[in-house]
Amino acid sequence: MNNLGVIFDLDGVIVDTAKYHFLAWKSLADELGIAFTEAHNELLKGVSRERSLDILLDIGKVSLSDAKRQVVLEQKNKAYLNYITKMGPEEILAGVEQLLDGLDRLGIPYVLGSASKNASLILKQVHLLERFKGIVDGNSVSKAKPDPEVFLLGAKLLERIPEHCIVFEDAIAGIEAAKNAGMIAVGVGDKTILKAADYNVNNLTEINEGFFKAFISDQRTDTNESRLHKTR
Ligand code: BG6
Ligand code: MG
Repeated sequence: MNNLGVIFDLDGVIVDTAKYHFLAWKSLADELGIAFTEAHNELLKGVSRERSLDILLDIGKVSLSDAKRQVVLEQKNKAYLNYITKMGPEEILAGVEQLLDGLDRLGIPYVLGSASKNASLILKQVHLLERFKGIVDGNSVSKAKPDPEVFLLGAKLLERIPEHCIVFEDAIAGIEAAKNAGMIAVGVGDKTILKAADYNVNNLTEINEGFFKAFISDQRTDTNESRLHKTR
């Protein structure tokens, strides 16, 4: 397979921002009298800000007017911004920079495909923004993951056909979106949760240049596949 392109999710793949989302949602939940736990926070991974609020309100059986929803969404984001504006390159997850270096060496372009409206800001904070060929984020899409829109837009920026795009994702909705787009999905994290992925890794240190070279030459070996826990 030639002409590969790569699409990275942001939260949970490049940086661990789930902890900051949790703190920001938790402070809003406390104010609304909703008991919100870290287990609940798992349900918000890969989910848009608006949908996350729906889930939070469902948990607390609370309903809000449209006007109040807008107020609390802004409030939550303000709290989140307080955390992410303090982020720096030391928060880049293990294996990310080595992987980007490898892709640069192989001449494989990469873009971001994230649900976050804060994606560019976060990449800037960790000094990675300039490395990406393009950014597709929560501001550029009208349909959230598992809809394939975010990744199909990514393929356009990459000038690659979907079948030649490899997506790195940590959320179930993201893996579904990649598969709905007809792409190759690599699940980053718990493989018992990310069952629908084509490949599973615990983190990006497990991906080396050989992984991409195998696609380029279209000569994937069993060893390669089992090393990466190919799931189907
Ligand atoms: C996703 C996160 O990347 O972005 C979700 O996994 C988050 O938890 C979503 O809700 C939207 O983020 P933001 O920054 O636009 O509130
Ligand atoms: Mg994610």
